[in-house]
Parts: sequence; structure tokens; C-alpha cells
Amino acid sequence: MIAKNFSQELFSLSQRVAFVTGAGSGIGQTIACALASAGAKVVCFDVREDGGLRDTVKHITDIGGEASLFTGDVRQLSHLRDAVAQAKSQYGRLDIAVNAAGIANANPALEMEAEQWQRVIDINLTGVWNSCKAEAELMAECGGGSIINIASMSGIIVNRGLEQAHYNSSKAGVIHLSKSLAMEWVDKHIRVNSISPGYTATPMNTRPEMVHQTREFESQTPMQRMAKVEEMAGPALFLASDAASFCTGVDLVVDGGFICW
Ligand SMILES: NC(=O)c1ccc[n+]([C@@H]2O[C@H](COP(=O)([O-])OP(=O)(O)OC[C@H]3O[C@@H](n4cnc5c(N)ncnc54)[C@H](O)[C@@H]3O)[C@@H](O)[C@H]2O)c1
Repeated sequence: MIAKNFSQELFSLSQRVAFVTGAGSGIGQTIACALASAGAKVVCFDVREDGGLRDTVKHITDIGGEASLFTGDVRQLSHLRDAVAQAKSQYGRLDIAVNAAGIANANPALEMEAEQWQRVIDINLTGVWNSCKAEAELMAECGGGSIINIASMSGIIVNRGLEQAHYNSSKAGVIHLSKSLAMEWVDKHIRVNSISPGYTATPMNTRPEMVHQTREFESQTPMQRMAKVEEMAGPALFLASDAASFCTGVDLVVDGGFICW
């Protein structure tokens, strides 16, 4: 039978340790703070050296949580292994990982040089692969965990008016990588899921080629608006927590209805 505090316990992350990449801005920053508000201790990872990571840790401390930071690049497996080792030495284990680090830009395919293609694939896809590997090494030792990769609706549909074949391909890769690892690691009790956000108001969407299109993004979305960044927190808390204990290999689309049309 269901106990009185069943739902509170289901979503509680107290005693859990989390690791978040891209935690210095936008979706990763908000999810890191949300995990802390549910009780997790959080190691925040980002390549930024401009204070974004420090802001995240300060916010978590201000709301009574516990967090530390690690500055590194998801293209370097050694950085991720060192950061995960920090989670182990500071907090003893790793239960939850959210891989949100990513970049976006646009260029017509016929004009795109190999270097531009490769950089997006290296950060958005190989970076997630590196992250999952480093995280799963410790999670396997700890008896399991939950990995959440931030993909995109661009891994499912092609955004009208945005010439970003490299980005779209990287995100389709993240969705299928997540399903593949979910199956490889099912007997290690490591759940691997992805979240595919629709247009979300973050610094990524203030890049020059996007700003003038914001109105169009809103009108193309059935809900007629972009997501607030906080609207990515609930889906992440769900997948991180025991509420999703039977979910693995799922891509949770959070897009205001976009891919229905
Ligand atoms: N904003 C949107 O509309 C939207 C929609 C769908 C998916 N996404 C995805 O959500 C994720 C977060 O995006 P956001 O909108 O919060 O963007 P953002 O630019 O605010 O945050 C991305 C973070 O990733 C970090 N990062 C970039 N390259 C890195 C690297 N090599 N190593 C470590 N960290 C690195 C950045 O420093 C930044 O702090 C991305 O993967 C993005 O593709 C965003």
C-alpha cells in the first residue's frame, strides 16, 4: 500500500551524489540547483572560467545544499575521470549524472568546413560518450545509478530555417547512444535516459543567428512560447529519482508539443 509520505520519498535525493556537466549556465546550471534542492550533493563541471560554475555552487550553498566545482572539458576523458574521482573523494560515491554540456551554431552544409562539423560532434556527442564512460566506471562500483543525457528535439526533427546538420546529427547520436548504453549497462543497474528539450530560453538562444528568430520559434511551438529553463528541472528530477526506477532507454521529449506538428 502507499504510505502517507510516499511521493516525498519517491522524489527525494537525500544521501545521493550527483555530477552535472555544463553546470555553469542554462539547463545544466538549473538542473544542478534542482538536484541540490531535492537533497543531492552535486559536483558541478564546466569548461567556463568566467564565474558561471562559482555562481552555481554559491546558489546551491545559499539554499542550504552542498556542492563543489571542477573546471574541465568534456572532450578530455581524463578531465571527466578526475572530476568523478573528486565526487568519490569528497562525497564517497556517485548516483546521478546529468550531461548537459553542449554548443550550437549554424552554417549551410555546403559551406561548412570539416573543423566546424567536427567541433560540434566532439563536444555534443563524443563529450557525452566520454562523460557516460567516466560516470559509469564509478556507478558500477557503487552498485548502479541514473545517467541523464541532454539531447534535443533537433535529434528527432529538423528545425525549420536553421541550417545545423552537425548539431542535429550530434543530438540524434545522443538519443541513440543513451539507448545503447542503457542496454549495455542494464545488468549493472545503471539507468540511462535522455531528455530532448524544445526551444528553451538560455544563453544558447541569444547567439546572433537565433535572436531574430525567437518569435518564429514561439509561434512554431504549439504552446506558443519557449520553455523557461526551470521547466527542464522537473523531468530531470523524475529521471534521477526512484520515481523513474523502471525507466531506462527512454527519450523524454519536453518541447511544448513541438514534434506533434
Ligand atoms: N536552449 C535550448 O533551446 C536547447 C534546446 C535543446 C537542447 N539543448 C541542449 O541543452 C544543453 C544545455 O544548453 P543550454 O541551452 O543550457 O546552453 P548554455 O550555453 O547556456 O550552456 C551550455 C554549457 O555547456 C558548457 N560547455 C560547452 N562546451 C563545453 C565543453 N567542451 N566542456 C565542458 N562544458 C562545456 C558551456 O560552457 C555552458 O556553460 C546543450 O547540450 C544543448 O544542446 C538546448
